Amino acid sequence: MVVRARDGSAGDADYGAIGAGYSGYRRPDPRIGRVVVEALGGARTVLNVGAGAGSYEAEEFAVTAVEPSASMRAQRPGHLVEAIDAVAEDLPFADGSFDASMTTFSVHQWSDLAAGLREMRRVTRGPVVVLTCDPELVRDFWLYAYAPLVLDAEARRYPPIAEIGALLGGEVTVTPVAIPADCTDGFNEAYYARPEMLLQPGARQACSAWSFVPAETAGAYAEHLARDLADGTWDARYGHLRGQPSYEGSLVLVRAMPG
Ligand SMILES: C[S@@+](CC[C@H](N)C(=O)[O-])C[C@H]1O[C@@H](n2cnc3c(N)ncnc32)[C@H](O)[C@@H]1O
Repeated sequence: MVVRARDGSAGDADYGAIGAGYSGYRRPDPRIGRVVVEALGGARTVLNVGAGAGSYEAEEFAVTAVEPSASMRAQRPGHLVEAIDAVAEDLPFADGSFDASMTTFSVHQWSDLAAGLREMRRVTRGPVVVLTCDPELVRDFWLYAYAPLVLDAEARRYPPIAEIGALLGGEVTVTPVAIPADCTDGFNEAYYARPEMLLQPGARQACSAWSFVPAETAGAYAEHLARDLADGTWDARYGHLRGQPSYEGSLVLVRAMPG
């Protein structure tokens, strides 16, 4: 059984506590959005699971959105469909209801990954598309030198990519997704060239992994980064990234077609 927090949050992060400023910092990035749309192919009806505030729901599709957290549902802009209060592990739809389905930055939070992916496969006739991070690559990011327990939490939470593929079955492709330097979706690696952004408490709060370390620890991590930015240490080590137009980090897109 999926345990739900007071605002309905069904995953390992409580969006009733951390979700309020999410849509301000996590605006869908159009370049990443194009990759998602392409993976959904010629679909007309698309299910978005763990839909949050509606990132990556393209207007060209007839979207059905599922989101358990009331705080996240409340942040959906008016032009998007209202999200249904349900969980990935128990989708309230008949078999084969949708041409395609998608889930972005969500699978690592589900309490039962296998059940959630099985449900997505069950209700989808065509591709199931999962935008997520590869836990093997999460610690390669420079932030690991400043916030090790945050990225340890990320690496622990993100399911192995091979496991996602095996659970979905069929014809599976895995594609690394390039992160643009001015990425508008503020997950940690989105700030690879703009480290100052991570000094903002709101930017950190919009990445749920920061809620897995004590507030004092997160504060000390941010202070370390602030010191290294002020005295030039960060730029001496990583400053070349400021001019790099995109970054290939841990972000990947998994696409599974039925076998
Ligand atoms: C990081 S947010 C991503 C939201 C949105 N997909 C995006 O890309 O901005 C993760 C979302 O997954 C949702 N979630 C967590 N556990 C879930 C579950 N078991 N079933 C469905 N959604 C879940 C959370 O409530 C949250 O809105």
